[in-house]
Amino acid sequence: MIRQEEKSEKMVRAPTDMLCEYSSNPLGIDAAAPRFSWALNHTERGQLQSAYEILVASAQANLDADNGDTWASGKVISTQSVNICYSGATLESGKTYYWKVRAWDKDEKVSPWSKMAMFEMGLMKPGDWKAKWIKGGNLIRKGFSINKAIKRARAYICGLGYYELRINGEKAGDHVLDPGWTDYEKRVLYETYDVTGYLAGGENSVGAMLGNGRYCPPEDKVKISPLPLKSYGDSPLLVLQIDIEFTDGTNMRVATDETWKASRGPIVSDDIWDGETYDARLERPGWDVPHFDDSDWSSAVLADAPGGKLVSQAGVPPIKVVKKLQPRSISNPRPNVYIYDFEQNFAGWVRLHVHGPKGTKVQLRFAELLDESGMLNTIPNRGARATDTYILKGQDLETYEPRFTYHGFRYVEVKGFPGTPNLGSLVGCVVHSAVEPTGSFVCSNSLVNQIHKNVIWGQLSNLMSVPTDCPQRDERMGWMGDAQLTAEEAIHNFGMAGFYTKYIMDIGDSQKEDGSVPDVVPTYWSLYPADPAWGTACIVLPWNLYLYYEDKQILKHNYSVMKRWVGFLGSKAADYIVSYGKHGDWCPPRHALSVDTGLRLTSTWYYYHDAFLLSKIAGILDEREDAEKYAQLSEKIKEAFNREFFLGDRYCSEKLSDLHKRVEALLPPTASEDMQKEMIKGTLPLRGPSIQTANVLALCLDIAPRDKKEQVARTLFDDIVTTQSTHINTGIVGTKYLFDVLTKFGRADLAYKLVTQTTYPSWAYMIQEGATTLWERWEYLADGGMNSHNHIMYGTVDAWFYRALVGIKLDPADPGFKAIIIKPYPVGDLRFASASLRTVRGTVSSSWARDEKTLSLEVTLPVNSQAKVSIPKMGLNKVTVKESGMVIWEKGSYAEGAVGVTGGSEEEDYVTFDIGSGSYSFQLSETIEV
Ligand code: BGC
Repeated sequence: MIRQEEKSEKMVRAPTDMLCEYSSNPLGIDAAAPRFSWALNHTERGQLQSAYEILVASAQANLDADNGDTWASGKVISTQSVNICYSGATLESGKTYYWKVRAWDKDEKVSPWSKMAMFEMGLMKPGDWKAKWIKGGNLIRKGFSINKAIKRARAYICGLGYYELRINGEKAGDHVLDPGWTDYEKRVLYETYDVTGYLAGGENSVGAMLGNGRYCPPEDKVKISPLPLKSYGDSPLLVLQIDIEFTDGTNMRVATDETWKASRGPIVSDDIWDGETYDARLERPGWDVPHFDDSDWSSAVLADAPGGKLVSQAGVPPIKVVKKLQPRSISNPRPNVYIYDFEQNFAGWVRLHVHGPKGTKVQLRFAELLDESGMLNTIPNRGARATDTYILKGQDLETYEPRFTYHGFRYVEVKGFPGTPNLGSLVGCVVHSAVEPTGSFVCSNSLVNQIHKNVIWGQLSNLMSVPTDCPQRDERMGWMGDAQLTAEEAIHNFGMAGFYTKYIMDIGDSQKEDGSVPDVVPTYWSLYPADPAWGTACIVLPWNLYLYYEDKQILKHNYSVMKRWVGFLGSKAADYIVSYGKHGDWCPPRHALSVDTGLRLTSTWYYYHDAFLLSKIAGILDEREDAEKYAQLSEKIKEAFNREFFLGDRYCSEKLSDLHKRVEALLPPTASEDMQKEMIKGTLPLRGPSIQTANVLALCLDIAPRDKKEQVARTLFDDIVTTQSTHINTGIVGTKYLFDVLTKFGRADLAYKLVTQTTYPSWAYMIQEGATTLWERWEYLADGGMNSHNHIMYGTVDAWFYRALVGIKLDPADPGFKAIIIKPYPVGDLRFASASLRTVRGTVSSSWARDEKTLSLEVTLPVNSQAKVSIPKMGLNKVTVKESGMVIWEKGSYAEGAVGVTGGSEEEDYVTFDIGSGSYSFQLSETIEV
């Protein structure tokens, strides 16, 4: 049989998806040696890159002439196509560079050159900044004139807490709530805009509106927030520099200084948690267009710099209004009170359309819940007033949306509306860090699909330049436990490299001399030291960027942070047991606090986890002594963990000696030793706490002694099935690892039963109770405690949907999806499952469908990747496997011939094939004996 592709000529195509520092054509890069990545394309299966060549030029014409005047890498024999470091001439601030790449395939055939891509450097040295920090009002402006033809213009800007840049009557760019949040005393982010098209010959006007943000929260918030809140200054600040290049080769610079003018504007108050008040009567019409008379404005005042290093935001996904939602219904529970229901919980705000007399005050309040009378229940918002107020100027139709706040809500209460509002009076604006959707998942079970959907909404609601815990109440903090646990789920669904790279810098910024990091990063609340399950983020996040994006540099740059953190844990350990902890297996059923799983157990487990990962990281970085040192340390911790928490057939977080003492006290003093042993054995399971998380943790990193693992696993299954009637009894830590552990020990079916469990505690229970995101607690709660209805902590299960239900897993031995494991688990009532992941190398997808006796599996791998594809035998005795119609497995042996398939083998439940890049269509069926 001749395949389609064999007829046509085998062709290595031009590389595509060209990224510089994870971005396409970025501006404002400030890495001295930016990294390049591309995807490879080939018409033939089983293809690899054997070499590449990169050209970087200072002008397009040079690149067109194949003149890499800045860097010509030459032909580099290498399979690396991800994160290749620039190593040419020194890159200059503000300059644009052009690059292209070509690649050789495994047969030494060279591809055409890629299309041209570009990157532009930011202001790399402090001396490049000529602008001064200024303050004086929440409107700041300057008029200036241009009398030459503009070739290009760039604006470099940072306004703290937030800015909106306005040039000649227009908002520049589409970011909101910019710049990203950092600890402003350590690091301040600036953005680079191409403003060439905003400027014109003659008079120009540039200005910024400024908001408080995290920089200067109102005094009362600083005091009455649940904890003392960090405040950096007493009023917003601005630094802005516009560098203009004219066609005649000359330059002009417009930069903030004391000649700028400042005034108060229509934003009367603004705060992230409380909302914004906008009095349209106080607008300064024309303030942002040329020829505005600002003679009655005061002069801007020079301000102290916030203290942190000015760093480019390039590569960090900016916060944007990503989507608009129409409200689904309006109710009118009391006179003049209208409740809008968006039927979706989300983070953002609403745009209001209103017409009415000047001075009319329209009040918008936001909440996730309603009370029994159909009014808003704002109690779970706790100290966040979540109220936007708009005061009309009295014109035809007025449109308002806030700039410097956001809310987490499903319902909006409108009061004071002139007349009767209708569905068109409000539009929902969905706001979050604009991470690119890179993953998709769907399967035949609608409940699982709904859980996935809730995870997506929950995840996006909690990406606000830092990974937040929730969007609605008086927190919205970068709780690192939530962040580290959900990182894999987030990475499966979205392009997270830039987002986490920035957050990892934030974590580094927060580290103290003693190696401790806080629970919340950036440290708007100073909570040192972090619970080990929170602090581990400083290791888990770089590690995940390495695994999923083949980013070795992030390991290197954060190596000392990780070492110091592990050193800190060591300083807290006695006999390798870490006794301190704060949250542990947070929010198990019925509780916020971890009741069944003691903090000593989770803290010690994370000490092991971190030392173990650090030894691997040291190995990857060629730090051999460290690799050995941390491997030995992790062995010691493992021994201590087993000594302390292992009871023979199970793990229990109560200190073994305490438990024995407690049980011994219950024994009749006259009992013989044997009888005591017998009674201890019989008593412990009854009196010991529920053991799901303890056992999951011991099984997941191979802590349990080899010969005891199966027994521990059986104890775990028994706890789930018998003690908890097939329910989870885990908090956020146990839940993260539970599903992979069950799968590893042969019980993917049980994992699926837990996922699809419909009674409390379960995801289905939340959904039945109306959840459109995920809750913080397994329970429906509507009081003022720990009961956000939009937390992402339980979203970790979503990674298991990709990894097990569809069965796409990366192989850590060859990160960045270079080596892939495709192994679906067609469990329970599942008839099909399908997912695709846009990885750093290109798209990986897998999709299976089955009936009683056949299973089809479609797989696509990018060039330069390879996979082991395991096709489930579905309990069939003798199976035949075909690929695109050609038999590749029959009568227990592999049949060669399919292009790209290089081998096959059979295990008890699967037939496994080695494949290279390309698209494949496998069909497994029962062998019909004739
Ligand atoms: C947050 C959590 C966080 C926890 C730590 C809560 O208030 O909302 O998500 O991780 O505190 O205990």
